[in-house]
Amino acid sequence: MSRLGRILVVDDEANARTALAELLRDEGYEVETAADAFKALGKYESFAPHIVVTDLKMPGMDGIELVKKIRATDEVTGIIVMTAFGAVQSAIEAMRAGAAEYLTKPLNFDELLVVLAKVLENQAVRREARQLRQRVRERVAPDNIVGISPPMQRVFEVVDQVAPSRATVLITGESGTGKELVANAIHQRSPRASGPFIKLHCAALAESLLESELFGHEKGSFTGAMTRKDGRFQLADGGTLFLDEIGEISPSIQVKLLRFLQEHEFERVGGTQTIRVDVRVIAATNRNLVEEVAKGRFREDLFYRLNVVALEMPPLRDRKSDIPALAKFFLDRYVKDNSKAVDGCASETMELLMAYDWPGNVRELENAIERAVVRPACPRSPARRCATSSAMRSSRPSRRPAGRPRRRRRCSGSASARSSTACTSTTRPPGPTSMSSAS
Ligand SMILES: Nc1ncnc2c1ncn2[C@@H]1O[C@H](COP(=O)(O)OP(=O)(O)OP(=O)(O)O)[C@@H](O)[C@H]1O
Ligand SMILES: [Mg+2]
Repeated sequence: MSRLGRILVVDDEANARTALAELLRDEGYEVETAADAFKALGKYESFAPHIVVTDLKMPGMDGIELVKKIRATDEVTGIIVMTAFGAVQSAIEAMRAGAAEYLTKPLNFDELLVVLAKVLENQAVRREARQLRQRVRERVAPDNIVGISPPMQRVFEVVDQVAPSRATVLITGESGTGKELVANAIHQRSPRASGPFIKLHCAALAESLLESELFGHEKGSFTGAMTRKDGRFQLADGGTLFLDEIGEISPSIQVKLLRFLQEHEFERVGGTQTIRVDVRVIAATNRNLVEEVAKGRFREDLFYRLNVVALEMPPLRDRKSDIPALAKFFLDRYVKDNSKAVDGCASETMELLMAYDWPGNVRELENAIERAVVRPACPRSPARRCATSSAMRSSRPSRRPAGRPRRRRRCSGSASARSSTACTSTTRPPGPTSMSSAS
């Protein structure tokens, strides 16, 4: 491929077209030509030019129409129009339709080279800005992971060991244990941290859509494929691709993924061009993949390719010493997000949080605390009751008139709820309660 870029020259005058193409090739550009706008649209799909240089006056479809057709699906490709001296009005119309520049004929070749360089530079700046916006959106600081328990300390050790390499990592663990958070931390601590972190939830898409999301597709490769589209592998070039729920992918996608992991290359759906990218893959699942392999539902060779480094996220019930720090972390976050005034957790609440088994793991704890902050009077599940604000220390003074006994809800069902005074009594005498005023 040319270092400078690909240019499609569109002109119905054969001599002008060939001469311009020759000059541009001599300058180091990769050039294709088209004798009219229809042929140009055909070549544009397969050649994917960085810049289209087109005449405005052509039989059939004119240059302005061509600009509109390209702009309907593509904001990036630069378009330069050539117009006869004295026909500037149509050039202005082309600029309104999305052309980047216009030049008058006969062309001044030096001027054309300057304009080409400028348009290519603008494209590079726009591409970089888009990548930067993407990175800012995706970024989660590793500091956002809370964990002082020995099992989490071991997780952090593995994260630090594997981050510098390109090794594929398979993260397993129950739902809500933090698999995605850890995948992100590996990326952020890796040498590819300045590259993109792209996620794909494999269970959320039908097989054909998943294939095109992963590998991209060519225009017309299936009904509804109106334009060529890059897949997540290409978007993740230079960075990390996180494949969530990998245990759900079909046998045919398993084969394609295996090929990528072995050869780092693939073709778009409906395409023949082989694309090579530099992508680190991190996969996650809450299924037991060893069992899936034994049952013949998951390819053994793919399992070994994914499981180069295995990282098992411990369930929250096996690391309860993390609960106080997690509770504080989420309380601070949601108090700040909701501009509320709560300054901590009462000790009886903490007992409840510690006694509960959290089948939904950290996500359930996070949700319970968010609910307690946002809707303190609306407890739903036993876990949420554990964290209702009746037991959270609020810095807002209690509105209960002095001397009136406080009515409390009766909790039932959960061992954690039964075990604490915070949720059992129906009426309490006045006096210090778990709702305490801050200074
Ligand atoms: N150690 C942790 N510190 C802080 N927040 C955490 C921690 N672990 C999980 N979370 C939070 O809990 C929620 C669930 O985490 P995450 O999405 O990473 O879990 P998961 O294992 O990928 O779940 P699933 O299997 O359902 O996709 C997220 O909001 C995440 O920020
Ligand atoms: Mg997840």
